[in-house]
Amino acid sequence: MRKEIEKLSKTAQDRISQARTKEELEELRIELLGRKQGQITKFIKRIPNLSLEERPLVGKLINEVKIKVKKSLEKRAEEISQEKKGKKIDITLPGKRPSLGTLHPITQTLKEIESIFIGLGFQVITGPEIETEYYNFEALNIPKYHPVRDEQDSFYLDDTHLLRTQTSPVQIRVMEKNQPPIRMISPGRCYRRDAIDSSHFPIFHQVEGLAVDRKVTFSDLKGSLTYFVHRMFGRKTRLRFRPSYFPFTEPSAEVDISCIICKGSGCKVCSNKGWLEILGSGMVDPEVFKKVGYDPEKYQGFAFGMGVERICMLKYGIDDIRLFFQNDIRFLRQF
Ligand code: DAH
Repeated sequence: MRKEIEKLSKTAQDRISQARTKEELEELRIELLGRKQGQITKFIKRIPNLSLEERPLVGKLINEVKIKVKKSLEKRAEEISQEKKGKKIDITLPGKRPSLGTLHPITQTLKEIESIFIGLGFQVITGPEIETEYYNFEALNIPKYHPVRDEQDSFYLDDTHLLRTQTSPVQIRVMEKNQPPIRMISPGRCYRRDAIDSSHFPIFHQVEGLAVDRKVTFSDLKGSLTYFVHRMFGRKTRLRFRPSYFPFTEPSAEVDISCIICKGSGCKVCSNKGWLEILGSGMVDPEVFKKVGYDPEKYQGFAFGMGVERICMLKYGIDDIRLFFQNDIRFLRQF
């Protein structure tokens, strides 16, 4: 019987080392160690038939074989799982790229606007989103009952505080703290109680601009904004300064650019006008200078304000402002 056991031990080792899969190993385990029909188990069952001297010796041998077989099974199982892992690595395949996020298109547009004006020597200064009526309206020459207050239907927090409806109040804050010359832009969020549609959203972004010095003229305003438009939309874009009204500038002008889609011949985007309005601007009203203690006889300035969503929509051909606020990754991924 000992010879038989030793022979079994040897073939068992060979077969284990040849097994290719975990399933094969499991079959082998049952065949060798299975409780009822296992080949080793069968030897154990035969022990009582042996002579008294032989029983302990054969028992010991069977036990050793059993332990060895178990160990080999485990070792082979481990090898198989390593091989499996090893096989998966195909070093000729291109690596998996981590998916990179991008900046929100509004942030990208803001950065682009900022960098153009920084190039012209403007500083970037931000102001609070919660404003007082004084800064948001009064100091900008918009007294109570001025009709503009209706247009800029506001979110009030209490009797005197509101979410700013425009970035223009930062002009006042900067002039109160500094003496000319001033060249600054102020990007940031604004809030209005607008009904939501494809071009209105209660939260939006503006970039305000202000330059104050001696002998600043309307030509400086035109030159700076022309440079900006050419950098933002291309050198072939034409500009039109259309007379307009803002309480804090006099004279005031709205700036239109030749439609970047049809180049001026008329299309859906420009409602067949060939022109697109992109910002408001003007020479700082002397009343505003008086409010901050500047002498209007000594200093002149120009100011402008633009909607960042509008600029971004024109630049990328986006037809619905709501897309900026839905954070749909399929939209954002395109920028
Ligand atoms: N604050 C104006 C608005 O929200 C935009 C604007 C127009 C700003 C003319 C200016 C300006 O600084 O000069 O409609």
